[in-house]
Amino acid sequence: MSPQTKSKQRVRDHGEVFTAEREVKAMCDLVKDECDRIDSRFLEPACGNGNFLAEILTRKLATVKKLYKSNPYDYERYAVLAVTSIYGVEILADNAEECRKRLFALWDKEYTAVCKKSANDETREAVRYILSKNILCGNALTLMCVDENQKDTDKPIVFPEWSLLGTKLKRRDFRLDVMLKANDKPKNGQPSLFDVPEEIRKYLSINPVTKEFMAEPICEYPPVHYRKVQENG
Ligand SMILES: C[S@@+](CC[C@H](N)C(=O)[O-])C[C@H]1O[C@@H](n2cnc3c(N)ncnc32)[C@H](O)[C@@H]1O
Repeated sequence: MSPQTKSKQRVRDHGEVFTAEREVKAMCDLVKDECDRIDSRFLEPACGNGNFLAEILTRKLATVKKLYKSNPYDYERYAVLAVTSIYGVEILADNAEECRKRLFALWDKEYTAVCKKSANDETREAVRYILSKNILCGNALTLMCVDENQKDTDKPIVFPEWSLLGTKLKRRDFRLDVMLKANDKPKNGQPSLFDVPEEIRKYLSINPVTKEFMAEPICEYPPVHYRKVQENG
């Protein structure tokens, strides 16, 4: 097996062929400014074990280090923000778990090196929690979560939107199917909720100014200190 595949069966069943580092870097270079920006949001719908997400997180953390390395408190806050902006969906549970662990390991290595004695386990737990909500085991075609046999469950894929307000993180949860519908361009410039399945319609509204669909959250949480996000869940 090449380092880009795990087994012939997995290639056959799931098209699992990982992208080589050189191509990952070249593709990230095409959107370099976004990869360098700490809070630009990325969602990879078939993220495998995280080749692209790891490269993007590495680049974001390089920006955090460049701007905040002299102040561990600022570094910590913005390094957490960098993680909140990275999302993935993967149908195979082992890949999704590998991806979370890999992102955590690279985040923690940088965090520990920069923050030294002020690095703490509470922040590490918060980052693990964020990754558990941002990297999900699901089917990117049906937009549903899957079970251990890759069969759709009755749960839609839901992602949190994290916003940093000072030292607090605000979390609002959105269904992925609703967010994608909200991105649809309305036919003839006239959005109509009647064409939308009822399950999705209840989380959509129409912006009175732009006349475009807007996704509504399915749940909102009160802002909490970024080290304590896990207490909301
Ligand atoms: C070609 S690999 C690419 C993996 C990774 N993006 C990379 O570039 O290294 C495709 C990945 O998508 C996953 N996959 C296949 N069908 C999927 C689906 N319907 N929803 C989510 N993930 C899927 C596979 O398990 C595999 O990990």
